[in-house]
Amino acid sequence: MERVKEISRVRELVGAAREDGGRIGFVPTMGYLHEGHLSLVRILKERTDFVVMSIFVNKLQFNDLNDFDSYPKDIQRDMELAEKAGVDLLFLPDDSEMYSNNLTVVDVHEITENLCGAHRPGHFQGVFTVVSKLFNIVQPDVAVFGQKDIQQVSGIKKMVTDLNFPIEIKVAPIVREKDGLAMSSRNKHLSSEERNNALALNRSLHRAKKMLMSGERDSSIIIEAMKEEISSVTHGDMDYISVVSFPDLKDVDRIDGDSVIALAVYFGDTRLIDNMLIEFTGDSLNCII
Ligand code: PAJ
Repeated sequence: MERVKEISRVRELVGAAREDGGRIGFVPTMGYLHEGHLSLVRILKERTDFVVMSIFVNKLQFNDLNDFDSYPKDIQRDMELAEKAGVDLLFLPDDSEMYSNNLTVVDVHEITENLCGAHRPGHFQGVFTVVSKLFNIVQPDVAVFGQKDIQQVSGIKKMVTDLNFPIEIKVAPIVREKDGLAMSSRNKHLSSEERNNALALNRSLHRAKKMLMSGERDSSIIIEAMKEEISSVTHGDMDYISVVSFPDLKDVDRIDGDSVIALAVYFGDTRLIDNMLIEFTGDSLNCII
């Protein structure tokens, strides 16, 4: 595995891999790698010949600077995990390599209006701007993003279509701990009590799934049941529990087409997100948690 800090060197190495006829896969991350990130690498190993991973904690997407300062880092461990997973090129730019007096941003309207977009001003603009830059630097054939950040991946798909990036976007399932907690770099901040309470996220989604499977379609009834599940373990610090259409992420009162149930809840100072995708085929539905 090559480790590279310079954009020009990434271009040389990717260019050489492409000249050899290779398809280029790309997984952008902010590091502190876990199985969720590594599952994305595995998806690319099956479909492409040369896998690029970036690790860059992108200040532009942090609306809360405390969150940026405390974002967990362990670059030595990340390098070992990336190499073991089969990453061919690890791009580790520093801030000055990525940004110097940038006056250009990328934004996607509508899709970013609710869910996390309503609670983290500027966050998605920061994400789409850095992902556009990374796409232009790496120029991959395929890039993979996790369902875990469903609003991020919906926005990136729209951005790729709207701005004609010649890149295929793959969506990867959420990787969870054995007890159901979605893996996240931020889980490291949880005390053992908070971590235990955070299992209510997954429990609330399973409760919603059960209701859907027994025919409930009213969003507000499902949201109420989920709120009950969450408020049994934490007091009032729910950013949102929402039912939205997929992929355009507009609030819906009834679930009768492809949808997402998404939630964001604070456990102590740590904000966690989770979601479930609901796919309809004819009259039957499939819940992907
Ligand atoms: P980060 O949070 O490091 O996540 C990198 C990728 O891993 C994203 O596509 C995310 O959805 C995916 N991921 C995170 N947890 C996962 C899990 N439990 N299962 C499966 N996939 C998971 O998302 C970002 O970084 C940044 O916003 C980035 C796209 C790199 C732009 O800065």
